[in-house]
Amino acid sequence: VDREEKIVLQEIKIGLLGLGTVGSGVYRILTERQKFLAQKTGLNFIPKRILVRDLGRKRAVAVDPGLLTTDPTQVVAHPEIDLVVEVLGGVEPARSLIAAALQAKKSVITANKELIATHGAQLYQLAREQGVDLFFEASVAGGIPILGPLQHSLAGEDIEAVYGIVNGTTNYILTAMTEQARSYADVLAEAQALGYAEADPTADVAGHDAARKLAILAALAFDQYVDLDDVYCEGIEKIKPADIAFASQLGYVVKLVAIARKKAAGLEARVHPALVPAGHPLAGIKGVFNGIIVEGWAVGSLLFTGAGAGQMPTGSAVVGDIVAAAKNYVAGQRGKPGLGFVKKSRVLPMEEVENSYYLRLQVEAGTMAVAKVVRHLSEAGVELKTLEICKGNEQVDLILKTSTVKEGIFMQVLSLLQAERDIKQVDAVIRCLVE
Ligand SMILES: NC(=O)c1ccc[n+]([C@@H]2O[C@H](COP(=O)([O-])OP(=O)(O)OC[C@H]3O[C@@H](n4cnc5c(N)ncnc54)[C@H](OP(=O)(O)O)[C@@H]3O)[C@@H](O)[C@H]2O)c1
Repeated sequence: VDREEKIVLQEIKIGLLGLGTVGSGVYRILTERQKFLAQKTGLNFIPKRILVRDLGRKRAVAVDPGLLTTDPTQVVAHPEIDLVVEVLGGVEPARSLIAAALQAKKSVITANKELIATHGAQLYQLAREQGVDLFFEASVAGGIPILGPLQHSLAGEDIEAVYGIVNGTTNYILTAMTEQARSYADVLAEAQALGYAEADPTADVAGHDAARKLAILAALAFDQYVDLDDVYCEGIEKIKPADIAFASQLGYVVKLVAIARKKAAGLEARVHPALVPAGHPLAGIKGVFNGIIVEGWAVGSLLFTGAGAGQMPTGSAVVGDIVAAAKNYVAGQRGKPGLGFVKKSRVLPMEEVENSYYLRLQVEAGTMAVAKVVRHLSEAGVELKTLEICKGNEQVDLILKTSTVKEGIFMQVLSLLQAERDIKQVDAVIRCLVE
């Protein structure tokens, strides 16, 4: 028998900065699931004001026009608003508006990786001083809960590494290139037509978006933040179908990986394409999906996977933070951020990072080129793990994979190879995820 329960709900008034893809998802969850949320949390979440740029724009959700405003102070300085949700994107005006909200003693939830990766330390400090919360689960891997587990469930864990596929656009492109043997340019154009890639895709394809997410993951995994400029960043623009095919013959798939790993001398923090063994959990993360592996001293290896972007999955992550911040607010427990953005870590220069390498070289037929490659590698103490010689009509390709070696040493070998006259050119150099 249905019984209408009469419970007195505490109202939590929310100010939204932005009503685009993510903002619309947040608004939909808060309004379409309002009753459910009230029963689940004992709190009544009410969108109070929404900042947009264009009041007349057609929206993905039906919103009371009276809620919309183009005046940011109507949100960040509104006396009744308890929590502010920033889903504008970009550094400004998002940074100033978040700072104003924190100064007005409102907890803030943001999905903005660019902002947190570059100004996380200052905003954390401000939130701490003001005794309010600053949450940003949606900034990394959209709907996948990863920052919460790092800060709470894994709070007692000595985390050794956090790495994975954190950009859906590049994973979509590489997956289609692999499964349909198509070129990068061809698949990128299709991804743009389908809305999976921006008109200017640079932030995704050059690895910048993944680097921002990695900087945030590293801060929360290791309680030390990294300077975004210290994160090595290489994109997928130069990946050729030929290398994807050769990698596949060798038992690997090519993925754009973001890796943060604790080492005795500092932290590895890097984003680049990598050959991933076909049996590795990350090899099975396809299309726009994301996958993140956390390796802990006691817990072993954990895989987090799911939708790394999109209106409703990202909205879900934002609403999770809204509920957490509201509960802290009601309990008078705000403003206890972790240590993530307090201490800066030393990031190892790439020359000190160890990898094994996949290499494709074009050599002159009928020369001593193969012997020279083998000699240069062995003189540097690098083992040759595989060597394939592909003789075409006009050219000879060498496909090889090395043992693990410091990048600095490998790069010296590479320049010696490039200086050899019968080695015509180096067509591809791709790092391998694990030996
Ligand atoms: N899209 C995703 O799947 C996803 C996933 C994870 C994280 N994120 C992050 O979430 C944030 C928002 O992304 P989005 O895809 O939702 O962006 P979006 O669709 O472009 O929406 C941005 C919203 O902010 C408003 N806006 C932008 N600049 C403004 C300004 N100066 N003044 C007033 N309003 C302004 C826009 O107003 P109008 O509508 O009037 O133009 C729009 O409603 C970004 O930080 C992004 O990195 C997105």
